[in-house]
Amino acid sequence: MTSILILHPGEMGSSLGACLRANQHHVGWVSRDRSDSTRVRAEADGFSEYASLDLGLREVDVVVSICPPEYAEATAESVVALNFEGIYVDANATSPMTAARIAAQVGANYVDGSVIGPPARRANATRLYLSGEKAAFIKSLFVDTFAEPTDLGPATTAASALKMCYAAYTKGTSALLLNIRALAEANDITDALLDEWSISQSELKTRTEKIGPSVSRKAWRFAAEMREIASTFDANGLPCGFHQGAADVYERLSEFKDQPPTPTTKLMATLLGKS
Ligand SMILES: NC(=O)c1ccc[n+]([C@@H]2O[C@H](COP(=O)([O-])OP(=O)(O)OC[C@H]3O[C@@H](n4cnc5c(N)ncnc54)[C@H](OP(=O)(O)O)[C@@H]3O)[C@@H](O)[C@H]2O)c1
Repeated sequence: MTSILILHPGEMGSSLGACLRANQHHVGWVSRDRSDSTRVRAEADGFSEYASLDLGLREVDVVVSICPPEYAEATAESVVALNFEGIYVDANATSPMTAARIAAQVGANYVDGSVIGPPARRANATRLYLSGEKAAFIKSLFVDTFAEPTDLGPATTAASALKMCYAAYTKGTSALLLNIRALAEANDITDALLDEWSISQSELKTRTEKIGPSVSRKAWRFAAEMREIASTFDANGLPCGFHQGAADVYERLSEFKDQPPTPTTKLMATLLGKS
């Protein structure tokens, strides 16, 4: 049995912790500074509570960082500052450059990670990608669980790079479609656009209607992820404006955090600054 600290049990982190518990590992969480929502998830999945990071780190062999990507570096800093000597997995949607900075702080015990798919609560839906010299050990903790781990080999930031490429398309095109729908609305041609899409781009009408409810609650978090993707393109000498724009789209929708899923049509007024 391995002891693992999840920082922190959000929707994804709690599901990863549940996978680890399903393999008989001990899973802990740190309650300091966390909201009731995190407590409810951690208790529902049977994680052990630690009142502070210091207390948690004394008890575990592995830390899994799974939090909003803009806090990934600060989370790593707080763990390194307490001289943690176990394996540190960063599974956040961060650029390879951010991952490399975290790896430099952590040292040889760094494992890069990324998750593609929804929280790991059912079969054939979620993939946990891992890379780095100690990725094989982390993979062994999750083997035969809903997290479906894959070891991408020893490259330090391969898992983060894969996530950037994947989300560049999925979340990037969702932002593009929302922006197009808002543009149509501003020009009073929404019905004409949807009619034309029905004829020539039959999947787009249905897709745009699904985007609102699926992204509205998470748009605040996607903004930072789009900036990580833009910086990844930029660092590789590629145009990065697409994803800077996508970050702007999601930023404008950040007020829907913690709201019920919102229809696409309702997001238009907010995007256009009319709500
Ligand atoms: N959800 C998905 O479908 C999905 C899919 C693929 C990848 N991911 C990745 O998983 C990671 C987490 O996503 P999630 O959906 O689990 O998010 P979430 O449900 O919003 O949970 C985020 C967790 O981080 C905590 N947190 C908030 N502010 C923090 C801070 N300043 N420092 C450290 N932790 C903080 C939250 O605690 P409190 O709110 O209690 O403060 C919560 O426990 C992200 O990197 C995301 O890209 C998620």
